[in-house]
Amino acid sequence: MKIKKIFATAAMALATLGSSAVWANNQDPVRVFYYSLNDMYINQLSTSLQDLAIGSGIKIAQFDAQDDLMRQASQIQTALSVNKKKTPILVNPVDNQNGLNALRAAKQQNVPIIFFNRKPTQEALSSYKDAWYVGSNINQAGYYQASLVIEALKQHPEIDRNKDGYINYVILKGEPSHVDTAARSNVFVRTMLDAGIKLKPVAIASGQWSPSVAQNEMTRIISEKGIASIELIVSNNDAMALGAIKSLQAVGYNNPDVPNSQFIPVFGIDAIPSALEAIERGVMTGTVLNDYKATADVMIRMAKAYIDGQPITEDLIGYPIKNCTIEIPYSPIYNFNLGTAAAETKK
Ligand code: BGC
Repeated sequence: MKIKKIFATAAMALATLGSSAVWANNQDPVRVFYYSLNDMYINQLSTSLQDLAIGSGIKIAQFDAQDDLMRQASQIQTALSVNKKKTPILVNPVDNQNGLNALRAAKQQNVPIIFFNRKPTQEALSSYKDAWYVGSNINQAGYYQASLVIEALKQHPEIDRNKDGYINYVILKGEPSHVDTAARSNVFVRTMLDAGIKLKPVAIASGQWSPSVAQNEMTRIISEKGIASIELIVSNNDAMALGAIKSLQAVGYNNPDVPNSQFIPVFGIDAIPSALEAIERGVMTGTVLNDYKATADVMIRMAKAYIDGQPITEDLIGYPIKNCTIEIPYSPIYNFNLGTAAAETKK
């Protein structure tokens, strides 16, 4: 009798599941277009998005442009032509022109478009009522990164190894055309100067957001300028910071148990898991969380609202909306033990 009842409940549950599965199969997926899934931060964002989509019962389909303009243009064009239900698309454009073309095409077909990570111009965004941008507060990352360096310098004045009163630093900027690149570096330098810290650039490199490019550039800088001339490395993302750390390790610096004299503080941005691990192991000094989980969460909520025919409101998203833009705040993360010797001296 009891067993039967359980069977009956199970059968009912199956029936319900069955119908929702049919509904889910009929649902047009939310299509997500990435500039490059080779980018460690973007890859992390994509993992968060997949996890959250599953949790919210949203079907997603992901497309990797592999940093190729034409590939992304054709991916978006094809996707729009099969998107019968006007399901929103999520776009991380390879460049601004791609973004603009996608926006125009989406507008023509009444498909909502949610940009992320690479912000289109305000003019473009404002030209379509169903166009949005989800990203991070552009000036905060550089500010937090500088605050971390200022605090590290307070706790460890020996970072200025040659004691000339200047911090000799290398800056790894990232892809020149990206909106975050200049903003992060400008705010970093301004915040440091406002705090009365004197900076001397040893080298300014691009690093292209990539660990291997940054590692090669850093290896070249070390061989040209000498490791002794570098007191600090400031990177506009964690991927490049991790590449730079490899080049430091190749000359005996920043290994987990080195003395403080063989440690150069390296600061990144993003807080991707491998950087958190490097901070935990004490080979990297700090980073600033570029909140990929919150970014993914906001985008899933927005997509779901469109699918359910609900309006996009601040209550629904959990963040303020200004000029069709949702800015997720950053937050700093650090470990100021610069090498084991420093940790021991502090005790
Ligand atoms: C992230 C970088 C990433 C870049 C890609 C930035 O906001 O911090 O890690 O490589 O976006 O567009």
